[in-house]
Parts: sequence; C-alpha cells; structure tokens
Amino acid sequence: MKGGGQRAAGGGQGRIVVVTGSDTGVGKTVLTTLLTRRWRAQGINAVALKPLCSGGREDAVALHAANGGVLTLDEVNPWHFRAALAPALAARQADRGVKLANVVARVRAVAAQFEVVLVEGAGGLLSPLGEGFDNRDLLSALGAVPVVVVPNRLGAVNQARLVIEALPMRACRHASVVLMDMPDADAAARSNAALLRACLPDLRVVRLPWLKRSGAASGRGVQAALRELERGASIRRAWPTA
Ligand SMILES: Nc1ncnc2c1ncn2[C@@H]1O[C@H](COP(=O)(O)OP(=O)(O)OP(=O)(O)O)[C@@H](O)[C@H]1O
Ligand SMILES: [Mg+2]
Repeated sequence: MKGGGQRAAGGGQGRIVVVTGSDTGVGKTVLTTLLTRRWRAQGINAVALKPLCSGGREDAVALHAANGGVLTLDEVNPWHFRAALAPALAARQADRGVKLANVVARVRAVAAQFEVVLVEGAGGLLSPLGEGFDNRDLLSALGAVPVVVVPNRLGAVNQARLVIEALPMRACRHASVVLMDMPDADAAARSNAALLRACLPDLRVVRLPWLKRSGAASGRGVQAALRELERGASIRRAWPTA
C-alpha cells in the first residue's frame, strides 16, 4: 500500500502510536513530523493527528503538511481552543467540553483508513486533555504504542523513568523513549542514553540530534536515530487490546 496521497481502502484498523512526553515544548511535534514524513516516503500509509490544540494550531498545521494534505486541517485537529492553557481548561473556558469517547471515535475513524496513525498528545503524559481524561487515558483507550519524548539534559533519566512508570502497564512494555538533544550537548546529554538503557533494559532508548534548521531531516544522524527507533520492539506494532 503506497503512502503517497492516498487513503487506504479501509476495512482494517491501522496501528496507533501516541507521541507523548515529559512536558510541553519537548519536541513532540518535531518527532511526529519526522516519523510521518519518513514513513510516508517509505510508502507506508501513515498520517499524523493532533486531536486537541490550545493557544494556536501551529502543531496541526505542521502535521497537516507532513501528511501531504491527505487530511484536512480540521480532520488533523478537530478540537482547537484559543486560550493558551491545558486543552481541558481552554475548552471549559470556551464552554465546549471534550469527551474521551468522541476523541477515541475520531482517531479510530482515521485509523480505519490508514496503516499507521501518529497521535500527538498535548503537554505531558498526565496533562489534562478533556472532560475527566488526560493523555494517558487517551493512550490507554486507543490501545496505542507510546513514544515518550524527553529533553536530553541533566535530569532526563529521572523524567523519562517517571513517565515510563506512569504508563499503563500493557502500554509500558511497548514504549520507546526519544531523548531530544539540545543545541549544545553537555556531559549529561552524552551519557543519558546509556544510563537510561541500563535502567530500562527492555525499552528502546534513542537519542535524536538537534536539527540545525527547521525540517533538516535529511541529516544522516537524524535518519539513523529514526531507524534505530524503528528497530525497537514495537513502534510499528500496535499494542494488542484486550
Ligand atoms: N531535535 C530538535 N531539533 C531542533 N529543534 C528542536 C528539536 N526538538 C525540539 N526542537 C524545538 O523545540 C521547540 C519545541 O518543540 P516542539 O514544538 O516539537 O515541542 P512539543 O512537545 O510538540 O510542544 P507542545 O507541547 O507545544 O506541543 C520548537 O521550537 C522545536 O523546533
Ligand atoms: Mg507540539
């Protein structure tokens, strides 16, 4: 099945990857666009969603572009709120609460048409997303494979372990961690990946280089890191639902 511009014939349910992280602003959109572009270029019918945005739709615009326009902006991002607050609060301010079941239904409807759906969460794993649910609840309800993005600096090992500990147990087995390099790698940044692998021997831990310019995905280091991530147990294999 080719990725270029087509939706799948439907019938099956595509695999769902949730890109989450230790915090807001850690590189979730950067990673999601890189993976989407890479997989689509490989002929995998992958597409990225940002179901909830608050304080601007820049992420959705970036994912829409990475998708090659196969979905409309409103399909990529069905819920958007003006206030730059956690989506759950921003939605309440706008008097438009979002229910978990509705988000799950939207993502599943897209997953029925594509081989892989990458879902970028909002904020960190436990940031509230909608009425009584957070990113973890969404991940769990979707039976998704988690990818955890953490800035690669002093303290990253603790942050990554906290997020991994907080994952639902079934999802945890299939998680990967991406340590996002900063412009100047210090001693901690150079040693974090090895230390984290020692703490989490069953999980894939990958270090992604800092992109010197926006969208500089062609760098060999970047593609090598993404390849390494794909070699992990399960990024392309959906975590089986009960
Ligand atoms: N590996 C990287 N190379 C270059 N820039 C990066 C990298 N990782 C993150 N950035 C930059 O850091 C900033 C935050 O990244 P990004 O928007 O991807 O974070 P996010 O986790 O998606 O944030 P949000 O919580 O707002 O969705 C952006 O300016 C982005 O370009
Ligand atoms: Mg983002």
